[in-house]
Amino acid sequence: MTARTALIAPSILSADFARLADEVAAVERGGADLLHVDVMDGHFVPNLTVGPPIVESLKKVTKLPLDVHLMITNADAFLADFASAGADYLTVHVEACPHLHRTVQAVKERGVKAGVTLNPATSLHTIEEILPDIDLLLIMSVNPGFGGQTFIESCLHKVSTARRMLDGIGSRALLEVDGGVKVDNAARILAAGADVLVAGSAIFCGDDYAVTIAALRAARQPASVHR
Ligand code: DX5
Ligand code: ZN
Repeated sequence: MTARTALIAPSILSADFARLADEVAAVERGGADLLHVDVMDGHFVPNLTVGPPIVESLKKVTKLPLDVHLMITNADAFLADFASAGADYLTVHVEACPHLHRTVQAVKERGVKAGVTLNPATSLHTIEEILPDIDLLLIMSVNPGFGGQTFIESCLHKVSTARRMLDGIGSRALLEVDGGVKVDNAARILAAGADVLVAGSAIFCGDDYAVTIAALRAARQPASVHR
């Protein structure tokens, strides 16, 4: 068992897009560990957001690793673009990738860390076989598409199960949780075994980004440090 610090990944979905560089600088100064970029296509999820040009622009204004969450149906067609734009992690949805093994290999071949994610109603059984190949497992704790939704409590159990699955195969993949993460539920999510907390509205809709980031990170109690 080694202590692991909770990593905090602000989601720019709730940032002021007209002042994106300033917003990113503020969370970077405030102690963020990763920058979570939500890519939505209006097909896989009922919303549209950003694409490779924004990732490329973000890369120029921050040193934070770019954690790109692809909520799109045809991820394979865009992996090269997101990789050249500067994504450090590319996370795809198991529901949207029928040839998940091929997709994960394609991400890694481009020198990018590969993540896989599941919607709240998708079973962890669907990713058992790909688990040894991935660098990040993202558990969605809301139905993807929008910021500011309420954390789905049943996902906590899924986080604990995912933790056991990763530990069981000796994986060092990061276990990330996304959706409805707030200062008041962060301790429970971290206790369930999460390594990375994605937080959009909790950070960007508050007054002091640094204070929220510190509070999210401090929610990891010594008792919840599990490895
Ligand atoms: C939801 C996105 C999330 C979203 C989280 O589809 O994947 O990353 O920005 O926003 P909050 O933290 O406000 O729930
Ligand atoms: Zn996300």
